Amino acid sequence: MPLVSRGRFPLTPDSAVARGREVGLVVDGRPTVAYEGETVAAVLVAEEGLRTRRTVTGASRGIFCGIGVCFECLVVVDDVPNTRACMTLVADGMRVERQVGAGPGC
Ligand code: FES
Repeated sequence: MPLVSRGRFPLTPDSAVARGREVGLVVDGRPTVAYEGETVAAVLVAEEGLRTRRTVTGASRGIFCGIGVCFECLVVVDDVPNTRACMTLVADGMRVERQVGAGPGC
């Protein structure tokens, strides 16, 4: 069964833009489709909604600046906590978890 890309604009053969090669990653334990050249933040917005993490008090946080300045988009990538989703390009086989608090091991 093909995975569906829910939050992206559909492309047609005459589209002026093209997507990178399709890659597979796992977000919060679920297989997800992404495209080379996308950031983890883009995948989260497209596939999972706006929340990237929860603070130690449980408040939701998401993409704010999108340029690596605010640190609101921290996620766990391949077991590395405090990774900025907006500054991290997807890779085939990557594992992403929306972070809770300071992240595992912190
Ligand atoms: S959204 Fe601000 S650092 Fe990622």
